[in-house]
Parts: sequence; C-alpha cells; structure tokens
Amino acid sequence: MSKNQWSSKLGFILAAAGSAIGLGAIWKLPYVAGTNGGGAFFLIYLVFIIFLGAPLLISEFIIGRKTQKEAISAYRSIAPNTYWHWIGKLGVCTSIILLSFYSVVGGWVVNYFLRSLTGSLSGLELKEYQQLFGTIISNPTQAVAAHLIFIFLTIIIVQGGVQKGIERATKVMMPTLFVLFIFLVFRSLTLEGALEGVRFILMPNFSDVTSKTFLFALGQAFFALSLGISTMVTYSSYLPKGESLPRSVASVVGLTILISLLAGLAIFPAVFAFGFEPTEGPSLIFTVLPAVFNEMAFGSLFIVFFLALLLFATLTSSISLLEIIVASLTKGRNDLRQKKAWTAGLLIFVLGIPSALSFGLLAEFSFFGRTFFDLLDYLVSNFLLPLGALFVAIFIANKLTKEELYNEMSQGSSITFSIFKLWYFLIRYIVPTAIFLVIVLR
Ligand code: PHE
Repeated sequence: MSKNQWSSKLGFILAAAGSAIGLGAIWKLPYVAGTNGGGAFFLIYLVFIIFLGAPLLISEFIIGRKTQKEAISAYRSIAPNTYWHWIGKLGVCTSIILLSFYSVVGGWVVNYFLRSLTGSLSGLELKEYQQLFGTIISNPTQAVAAHLIFIFLTIIIVQGGVQKGIERATKVMMPTLFVLFIFLVFRSLTLEGALEGVRFILMPNFSDVTSKTFLFALGQAFFALSLGISTMVTYSSYLPKGESLPRSVASVVGLTILISLLAGLAIFPAVFAFGFEPTEGPSLIFTVLPAVFNEMAFGSLFIVFFLALLLFATLTSSISLLEIIVASLTKGRNDLRQKKAWTAGLLIFVLGIPSALSFGLLAEFSFFGRTFFDLLDYLVSNFLLPLGALFVAIFIANKLTKEELYNEMSQGSSITFSIFKLWYFLIRYIVPTAIFLVIVLR
C-alpha cells in the first residue's frame, strides 16, 4: 500500500492546505463577509477558525492517521459495531452535494480563465464587468458546459491517484498564488479611496451582528478549512506514522488565515474605491478583481496567471472532495479507482445541473425561498458541516482515551502536556458547546 501514501510530510501539508485553500476563502468569504457587515463577521470567522477549526482539524488528522483508513472505515475501526461510522457516511453524502455546486463556481473560473487568454477581460468599464458576469452565469449552455469541464478536470486528476500529480504541482503553484495576491493587495490598497475598504473589513462594527452572523461565520470557517466532512480524515490516512500533527495543523490554519486576509485586502479596498457594493453577493470577486487588474501595468497578462492559479487552487479543493467519495468506494483497491471516479464524478455533474441553471433558466424557481444553488450551499455550510464537526468532536473525546490521544498528538512533535490539555479542553467542552449553541440559537 505504499502507493497510497504521501511521499513526504511537505506533500501532505500541501495537499491538506490545497484542500483548504480554494473558493471558500477566496470567493465565498469576501461575499459572505460583504453581505454580513464586514469586519465583525471577519473577526468572528477568525476566532472560529482558531478556537474551533484548529482543534477539529487535529481531531480529523488523528482519526485518519491512527487508522490509516478512509472516512467510513476509520470510524468503524475505532468504534466497531456502532453507528459512529455514519459520520463518515454523512461526510461522503455532504461531499457529493458540496461538489455538485462547487463545480458550478469552478466552471465560472474556467470560463473566466478561457476569456482571459483572448484578452477580452481587459479594458472594460465597471458596468461591463457586471454585465459579463451576468451573461456567463445565466447562459445555460455556458454554465453547464463550464461545470462539465470543471468536473472532468477533477475526475481526471482523481482517477490517477491524488498523491502522484498534485504534490509536485502544489509546491510551485501555491507560493505563486500567494505572491500574485500580494501584488493585488498592493494595487488595491493604493487605489484612491481604498482606506474605507480596509476599515470595512478590519474594523469590526458589532451593531450589525445577529445570531445569523455567528451561524454564517461558523459555516464559513468549516467550509474554508474543509472540516466536518471527513476530507481531512481521508487525507491524513495517507500520512505515515511519526509526523507531527500539531505542526501540520498550524501550517494549514496559518495559510488559510493568510489567504483569507489577502483576499479581503485585495477586494474590499477596490470595492470602495470603484464604488461597487460590498453586498453584491456571489459576483463580488468576479467583477471587482478584473477591474483591479485593469488598473495594473501588464494587467491583461497578470490576470491570465491569476485565473490559472485560482483554477488550480479550486481544483486542489474539488479533488479532495471527490477523493473522499472515491476512497470510500474503493477502500484501497486501486483497480477500482478509475471506474468509481468516473461514476461518482458524472453523478455529481448531473446533480449539479440545477445549480448551474440557478442563475438563469431556474432563477425564478425557489425552494424554501432560495434558488437551488443557494439552498444546497445553505444546507451544506450552515447545517451539514457544523453537524459533521459536532459529531467528530463528540466522537474523539469519547471513543479514544486520553492516553491514546496524547500518544497520537505527541508523535514526531515535542508538544508540551499543557498544549495537549488545552486542546483536549477545547475539543471536549468548548467546541461541541459552541457549535450546538450556534446551531440552536440561529
Ligand atoms: N475548503 C475548500 C474551499 O475553501 C472547500 C472544501 C470544503 C473542500 C470541504 C473539501 C471539503 O474551497
């Protein structure tokens, strides 16, 4: 089974960070923060990432690395003949739903990337960027075709085994993405009137905070860290024993926070400088960022790189979603991998069609007051991910002894007992209580 392991510790961190960093922090966070008051939302999101997300990430890593099994079998092997493995099943179902609409947005990125190659994203008026986005998402053929291309790309990588290709590619692409973001932030901050945007996203104004803000920030934190869905259980099952889990978690959480800040600082200063609305919704980055590139020297070239890297970041997340499904269907039998990847991928494509049409043909149809796309997103982010995370917290504190946990956490790392105790306290008491309260009081 050596084939199913990361070739190095760095490979694992990059893959886990690749799963985390994607549309969640770059596309969803800015628009959800924008529609929920800005700074206060952002702050609550960061607090949740650090105090709930990081302990949960350690927990998922422990479950995967300890058992060396994919999501469903991992729970089964720790708690045989119980219902706990339903956490894994819930994760697989959630992945299917999540990927079905994630791929639609991935398709928008594909569409933008192809357009950038022809130079047609440059030199437009602000209004024209909004119109362009409107056309791309509402045209049924374009939306479905782009969704199909994105799913295809995901399937092709997953069928070959995630360990082979992505490790090497991620090593180059991720640092480049960060560098380009720094350029973007710099350009955005030097626009006239940028300061108001900095204030909007960094200065919390608690008068807008409601119980919904907490729910959305919680869902957003789990979405961005790929938590509550057992993706990280599956990824860490490919991790050889003896690696330091806390250190890996610190890297993944640190990078996710960094990209969240960069995204916020690239977008909001420009939103205010150009006179866009922070409450614009899902279109936010797609209209604002091309406009920022427009103001840059060699912008039409940079935007091609940027979109290629964004597409890459999006794919490293989508493959982790498909991987957990495929891993749970193949259970380590690599001869089945190709067939299962295509079957699952195509099923997800079909399931995603109503989401792809939610901004055009089906825009008027509402299910419980939302479009199909919004309904799935709401269900996943604000209910299924928190629920999965809640179960993981209860599971780990009850099904593994303190000694077992300390043993796992201290492998390959020199954590002090007090850090362990802090983690244990958070995961046993704070995490479940906080998630429970946020869900119930919403
Ligand atoms: N974290 C990914 C992103 O932010 C999305 C994701 C969620 C991936 C859950 C896997 C599991 O884009």
